[in-house]
Amino acid sequence: MKAIQIHKYGGPEVLRYEDAPRPQPQAGEVLVRVHAAGVNPIDWKVREGEMKDFWPHKFPLILGWDLSGVVEELGKGVSQFKIGDEVYGLPDPTRGGAYADYIVVRETELALKPNSLHHIRAAAVPLATLTAWQSLFDTAQLQPGQRVLIHAGSGGVGHFAVQLAKWKGAYVFATSSTKNQDLLRQLGVDEPIDYTQQRFEDVARNIDIVLDTIGGETQERSWSVLKKGGVLLSLVQPPSEEKAKELGVRAAFVASHPSGAQLAEIAKLIDSGKLAPIINRILPLSEARRAHDLSQSGHTHGKIALRVSNPDGTLERKQS
Ligand SMILES: NC(=O)c1ccc[n+]([C@@H]2O[C@H](COP(=O)([O-])OP(=O)(O)OC[C@H]3O[C@@H](n4cnc5c(N)ncnc54)[C@H](OP(=O)(O)O)[C@@H]3O)[C@@H](O)[C@H]2O)c1
Repeated sequence: MKAIQIHKYGGPEVLRYEDAPRPQPQAGEVLVRVHAAGVNPIDWKVREGEMKDFWPHKFPLILGWDLSGVVEELGKGVSQFKIGDEVYGLPDPTRGGAYADYIVVRETELALKPNSLHHIRAAAVPLATLTAWQSLFDTAQLQPGQRVLIHAGSGGVGHFAVQLAKWKGAYVFATSSTKNQDLLRQLGVDEPIDYTQQRFEDVARNIDIVLDTIGGETQERSWSVLKKGGVLLSLVQPPSEEKAKELGVRAAFVASHPSGAQLAEIAKLIDSGKLAPIINRILPLSEARRAHDLSQSGHTHGKIALRVSNPDGTLERKQS
């Protein structure tokens, strides 16, 4: 099969479009023919070696932890899926990824893909939506009427977080630069904030939940907008427990994890029209380098997806 692999850590030039062995499903695992793979910042962070002390990856390593495709083969004991099922999922990021014609995934990490989305759009959903879901619902226990501040509401995680928070009945503040203010309004943000023109703490006050997707100064300044008992969630940098105690708030670093069960819930929401991915760019698998450059700019809105097989079923064979 064809795959985008790395043989060492480094810049986009270490991404190689080449032949790789087709994996075999073991007990409890499913072989999926990948139709599309979503691109996330974790892909280039792994490529650069940022995660090497946490995840036991070996070379050559296939990147990409978002997929939509079709079940091709079942390992022993698989009971939830059958051959031919259209599935989507966030595979275990400590294992190899989905920038490939095929991937082996545990059945617990998959769900049937939303009927209303074709594979490209479905592949953009799992990692970012699970992150938003697990942050707002599992960790912060968001309640209707609460006031939520979402940093980077236009980003991959942010645009799903805004929609999920609105669906739960929250009052939502979200930040982006000037060019994405209309997008924030379209997503349903109650008070869009242009971080290039305003200080978010001048607009967002008495906040129950802050979702920090930026870190650094943005995280530091976020403490002041929280009401007592509120919670600061970060996806990028563990917030200070001491500071949280001092202010009478809660703080948590969220590390998202695979969940087929939550993806099944998310598929229902998508099919009922309550949640939708925004796709910024679709590129062929062979152009993964370009996709990484775009993602690494830190200023794309919505999601980037890689087309792994063409709509007529023939696989991408173009050499990068
Ligand atoms: N811990 C976890 O499990 C987990 C899971 C998922 C993601 N993450 C991390 O979370 C971060 C965000 O991920 P993502 O997929 O949402 O990234 P992304 O899609 O690349 O985010 C891009 C967005 O960030 C906005 N942005 C950039 N600087 C900003 C600022 N100072 N204030 C507000 N918005 C700003 C941009 O809007 P403008 O162009 O308008 O500036 C752009 O729309 C990444 O570091 C990722 O690795 C962690």
